Amino acid sequence: MESMSELARIGVAIDSDLLDKFDTLIGERGYTNRSEAFRDLIREELVRKSWDEGEADVVGTVTLVYDHHVRMLSEKLMDLQHDHHKNILSTIHVHLDHDNCLEVLIVKGKGKDVKKIAEALISTKGVKHGRLTVTTTGAGL
Ligand code: NI
Repeated sequence: MESMSELARIGVAIDSDLLDKFDTLIGERGYTNRSEAFRDLIREELVRKSWDEGEADVVGTVTLVYDHHVRMLSEKLMDLQHDHHKNILSTIHVHLDHDNCLEVLIVKGKGKDVKKIAEALISTKGVKHGRLTVTTTGAGL
């Protein structure tokens, strides 16, 4: 477990109209105080930066929706996953209906590698929709 660093207090000068909008926004999102909302915004940017840089270890999920009747599609997706087995920690496969499958892959590794794997899966012909959701290993936050 990460040790908590010392708590620092800062004062932020902000236009009152902008602050009103911020308060409305964070209220709608369920925050009960501004400090936690500020901290989450900062963490969000740090996580985004770690993905953009590409070298840091990151965690994410790849969501795919596809029709398993498309010729060779299931095999292609499976081959890709085996090629990158070190980066794919787990998969969930749900048969949505007679034709459509939903697959969620938990991926981990360097941001640039994970992005490439996600792009290869999502761009495979026959995948109807795909999305990479990026998050963090939590270390250093
Ligand atoms: Ni299925």
